[in-house]
Amino acid sequence: MYFQEILGKKRDRIKLTQAEIQYFIKGYTQYEIPDYQVSAFLMSVFLNGMDIDETTWLTDAMLHSGIVVDLSDIEGIKVDKHSTGGVGDKTSLIIAPICAALNVPVPMISGRGLAHSGGTLDKLESIPGFNVNLNLDQYRHLIRETGLCLIGQTAEIAPADKKIYALRDVTCTVENKSLISASIMSKKLAEGIDALVLDVKTGKGAFMKTQQDSEALAQILISIGKNMGKQVTALITDMDQPLGTHIGNALEIIESVDILKNKCLPLQDDLRILSIELAAHMIILGGKAKELSQAKSLVNQVIQNGSAFSKLKEIVSKQGGNDKALDDFSLLPQAKHSEYIKANADGFVKELDALKIGKGAVLIGGGRMTMDSKIDHGVGVIMKKKIGEPVKKGEPVLEILFNDPKTLKNAADYFNQSITISKKPVEPVKLIKKTLI
Ligand code: URA
Repeated sequence: MYFQEILGKKRDRIKLTQAEIQYFIKGYTQYEIPDYQVSAFLMSVFLNGMDIDETTWLTDAMLHSGIVVDLSDIEGIKVDKHSTGGVGDKTSLIIAPICAALNVPVPMISGRGLAHSGGTLDKLESIPGFNVNLNLDQYRHLIRETGLCLIGQTAEIAPADKKIYALRDVTCTVENKSLISASIMSKKLAEGIDALVLDVKTGKGAFMKTQQDSEALAQILISIGKNMGKQVTALITDMDQPLGTHIGNALEIIESVDILKNKCLPLQDDLRILSIELAAHMIILGGKAKELSQAKSLVNQVIQNGSAFSKLKEIVSKQGGNDKALDDFSLLPQAKHSEYIKANADGFVKELDALKIGKGAVLIGGGRMTMDSKIDHGVGVIMKKKIGEPVKKGEPVLEILFNDPKTLKNAADYFNQSITISKKPVEPVKLIKKTLI
């Protein structure tokens, strides 16, 4: 076998065999196949697709590119949550400590920013000292001791996803159901979970723009998980506008802490409601509640009594981070400048296009343009309005926090074009569209 042949088959829409997919993943993980050939392969998959057999084989090969962790010696039903990616989507930072505070262990392997969507690892790294690169022993130890661990794919766990994910980020090959499914499920199945909650985003800022496509993606993810003996619940949720108010790495840490400290503004209600809903499903899968209402009241308890926030501080400190930064936000990376994008008419906010806001946030330094780009953790956007709200001409809609004025010049069109104002009242967005079990 040689890689050009496999590449040519995918270009010509010929179904690949399991052996060919295994050859690709092994060769790429072992640095035998170069990035430029894999970029071409990913684009062929993006354009020509993979069927369910190829998707399952790809997931399996990526899963077995490293160790499949066995956490059965750690007490409790291990549950994780994964999102298919969005803008301002920081629920992992809120949910993981909530579940751990309720004694549901959360082994969480997350990703970095992907295209215009943010990544949990980049957000965590905005906390000074926080280390997402732990080894397997440290990972196991922290789950046993603390009830959670927040790391990235490593050379030991899901190494194929680590490499392919970084390449997809910069080659416009993200929005494909097979690549997304294999990426998510290979790392989730490798991390040692018993059950999984999936937040499948839909809308302008999601990788799947229509509810039909999002549901189709959810079905693939659920069937891969169930075939591997895992319990899976999937929620289809809105990503037409960014979630919550803060977009950007350090800014999303601040907003997550505010939710965990029960200091939520009405504008952040979507983030609070979705976090509670996702955490409640995890609590049910973790065997700590039978009904959603009971699970939600447990979740609210650990927010209100401060134990979820204490859990976040504990894991931050155990992973080398400065936990004081969670009480004193001036210790987080900051942006030097701020500028408002204002409403150009009186009316009601009709659109806050999450894709455009996400692309703007990448351009001001919040995401990567190439594999070697350095992220500016301090920059981002704060939403001053959400869809459906009344607005007056000249009122701020977005606040842009930036360091390099040149970058704002590049991003300004995205931010300006993200806002649509309507003369007529606009219905607020439906946040949770569907739950699939
Ligand atoms: N999250 C992932 O881990 N991978 C994707 O491809 C998309 C979202």
